[in-house]
Amino acid sequence: MKLSSANINVMIMACRKASKLLIRDFGEIEKLQVSLKGPGNFVTVADIKVEKILIEALQKARPNYSILSEEIGEIDNDKSFKWIIDPIDGTANFLHGIPHFAISVGLEQNKEIICGIIYDPIKDEMFIAEKGNGAYLNNQRIRVSSRSKLKDCIIFTGGPKQSSKDKELALKEYNNFSSKVLIPIRKLGSAALDMAYVAAGRCDGYWQRNLNYWDVAAGIILVKEAGGYVTDFNGGNEYIQNKTILANNSKISEEMIEVLK
Ligand code: IPD
Ligand code: CA
Ligand code: CA
Repeated sequence: MKLSSANINVMIMACRKASKLLIRDFGEIEKLQVSLKGPGNFVTVADIKVEKILIEALQKARPNYSILSEEIGEIDNDKSFKWIIDPIDGTANFLHGIPHFAISVGLEQNKEIICGIIYDPIKDEMFIAEKGNGAYLNNQRIRVSSRSKLKDCIIFTGGPKQSSKDKELALKEYNNFSSKVLIPIRKLGSAALDMAYVAAGRCDGYWQRNLNYWDVAAGIILVKEAGGYVTDFNGGNEYIQNKTILANNSKISEEMIEVLK
């Protein structure tokens, strides 16, 4: 089985096209110019070039859709459909030559994510989901893990960003996990892949505050379509507004919420 709706095909095509440049630039990483966009947030020439290829391909196929993309911002058009793009999620890894980053593209219809793709070009792993049609990794159906006790789990997180005003809270949450439950906590450096790995059952849960919509848009539909939960830190639906993402296999949701408090 595989997903092959018209929008999914457009997203796959755009990602494959952009990934060629990404793979080439990754091989020549030392030649990239780097400028500082803000603490802990580098913007590379590659981010901008990849974004351009993605946007051109998506606009060619769907000229009326609106766009929200990390580097370029908002392109207003059709009110009901919007692409949400992070051209490289895991830029710091990319810059350091660590082969763990991804292109992330989500599609919103009437403010709800209906399709998502997260493509790791180095491992050639394409995670795709569509509302009502499940989540897939390279055409194989994926499901969240089935572990029901936090003590048996591996949990992912990221940050905190040096500049974030909630840095203290983020550190407290990290300390809670390290001291209340003695389980492995990993920071792999790509929020999009963190979410994709929850969807694929490679890790059991993920939490992070201060993410942007483009970091997690595609990940949200992947986790949900793989049978997982995406909530804010209180178990509610305000995860975009509150910028607090908690994704898990559904079975450890309550335990995670308790530990985060
Ligand atoms: C970052 C990554 C990272 C997360 C940061 C994000 P970028 O995105 O997703 O894992 O911890 O909060 O900003 O800057 O590489 O696109
Ligand atoms: Ca990102
Ligand atoms: Ca990015």
